[in-house]
Amino acid sequence: MNFIDEAIDQYCVNHSEPEHPIFAELHERTYAEMEIPQMLAGNLVGNFLQLMIRLSGAKRVVEVGTFTGYSSLKMAQALPDDGEVITLEYESKHAAFAQSFFDQSDWGQKITLQQGAALDHLSHLQGPIDLAFIDADKVNYIAYYEALLEMLRPGGMIILDNALWSGSVLDPKEESDQALADMNDHVHADKRVHNMLLPLRDGLMLALKK
Ligand SMILES: C[S@@+](CC[C@H](N)C(=O)[O-])C[C@H]1O[C@@H](n2cnc3c(N)ncnc32)[C@H](O)[C@@H]1O
Repeated sequence: MNFIDEAIDQYCVNHSEPEHPIFAELHERTYAEMEIPQMLAGNLVGNFLQLMIRLSGAKRVVEVGTFTGYSSLKMAQALPDDGEVITLEYESKHAAFAQSFFDQSDWGQKITLQQGAALDHLSHLQGPIDLAFIDADKVNYIAYYEALLEMLRPGGMIILDNALWSGSVLDPKEESDQALADMNDHVHADKRVHNMLLPLRDGLMLALKK
């Protein structure tokens, strides 16, 4: 489901900061080589993540779900030289693809990719972190949120992608629909954060730690 008209979406892209050419190449190769290229977060979410990083002065970012590296690279680009993105990816094919783009970009050295199940890696990570982006398997969203909130500094933000799941959270049928509906209820009821569900692309749940 497209929440907004495609022409309006393109108009927004055309009136948002233009991207470095590496993102067009990454987009093109993702669509040529990957089975579900639509997983790539895309220009508006990418630019939103960059704005959040610049606005908050974030230096240490954790991402769950690298895929081909689009959102990792967008966030790394916005970080200062001593900033760091730790990105977690299960699939070796995705990890290798993403790493090849990190290696050829001018700011990829700010990214550390850890391959394997994200929950295992999260259990070994030490805080504090400034910002987290959750964009992986939906059934584990609440577990990722809880692990990351523990490590997040006060004033830090967790951003959870696909909070609307093409609208299916209104009438959950599949396991992933229910997982995302449960995540929205969980974050919304959480007194440790200020939250907002932003209807950008497929929905971003924003949680700012008090
Ligand atoms: C929606 S994609 C991420 C998109 C990426 N953030 C972007 O904007 O291009 C989700 C990714 O999470 C990965 N994934 C799924 N389950 C995982 C797990 N348990 N641990 C780590 N990564 C996982 C998938 O292999 C996939 O690459």
